[in-house]
Amino acid sequence: MSGNRIVTVGGSGGFAPYEVVIGAGALGRAGRRLKTAIGRDRCVVVADATVWGLHGAALAAVLGEAGVKAEVIDVPAGERSKSFAELERVLDGFGALGLDRGDCVVALGGGVVGDLAGLAAALWMRGIGVVQVPTSLLAQVDSSVGGKTAIDTPRGKNLVGAFHQPRLVVADIGLLATLPERQLRSGWAEVIKHGLICDAEFFAWLEGEGAVGARGDVVALTRAVERSVEIKAAIVAEDEKEAGRRALLNLGHTFGHALEAELAFDEARLSHGEAVAVGCALAFRFSVRTGLATAEAAARAEAAFGAAGLPTRLDPADGFDAARLVERMRGDKKAEGGRLTLVLARGIGEAFVAKDVDAAAVEQFLKDEGAS
Ligand code: GLY
Repeated sequence: MSGNRIVTVGGSGGFAPYEVVIGAGALGRAGRRLKTAIGRDRCVVVADATVWGLHGAALAAVLGEAGVKAEVIDVPAGERSKSFAELERVLDGFGALGLDRGDCVVALGGGVVGDLAGLAAALWMRGIGVVQVPTSLLAQVDSSVGGKTAIDTPRGKNLVGAFHQPRLVVADIGLLATLPERQLRSGWAEVIKHGLICDAEFFAWLEGEGAVGARGDVVALTRAVERSVEIKAAIVAEDEKEAGRRALLNLGHTFGHALEAELAFDEARLSHGEAVAVGCALAFRFSVRTGLATAEAAARAEAAFGAAGLPTRLDPADGFDAARLVERMRGDKKAEGGRLTLVLARGIGEAFVAKDVDAAAVEQFLKDEGAS
């Protein structure tokens, strides 16, 4: 038995289908698949510099055994690498290596590298192949799957990007062992999010025996990644370009992005996953206030995040201003004509996209939540 779980994304008339290979040790078993996806005897690996130090030799060895030579472009770790400057440097690297339309990029790292390398691949010669090898839990359950790529601009996060589906995703659960605890917990917020969106049974498992995944249990992590990818794959297959249903994947993100932006995306104060946890809890409590969900559902959502060591309330020390947060939410990519679009919930596993949400009601809610 190979130990791999395979989830196929796409394929029913939309974009070309691809596999997400999940499992402890999946990278070591991926040589043949990598060679097929890359389609050449060379590739360029765009890697997070820290991750390359930890896992670069393993990737190079697998590629080498498969007869693929890897050239490496490394990028500094951290969100600041999702910039025009770094994108230009990566593209210039492609030029220096003489990449043509038949070449393929391998992204090794977390969400930052996946987004940056994916966008560079989307732009180079109007689009070359990309393989994602996500090394953070957040990237394995979310950003490496579904084809969203982007960089940030001074006006906001992920504002410049493209949809560019990968040819293959290799999610090796074993690589998560080197993740700092806080980063693992942050990725777990996206796992819980998937249950809250549309799978009450999965959520119940996360509340119970699956909860050990947040502390690194490999068996629980494998199941959590697999189910998260299945949920995401089903949504993306229906709505690749986020014309409707895909927006569900942004549960907790409109509140969360506003909090992150107010803190200047300072990961030391609030990581993306922590912001998603607070954002999901706010979305559930707002759903209770508007009579959509029960207080019990909101309490369960909060407890699941809390059990994983994730925050669920605004931190008074951050001094959030309700009007400013609402202003940030108006600038969200989902907002239309200045009206708020939020993902709300009728219960656990019953999220929906609410358009035209009353901004004044959200502002008052945030004041009641402790913002000034
Ligand atoms: N992270 C949300 C999405 O991929 O649509």
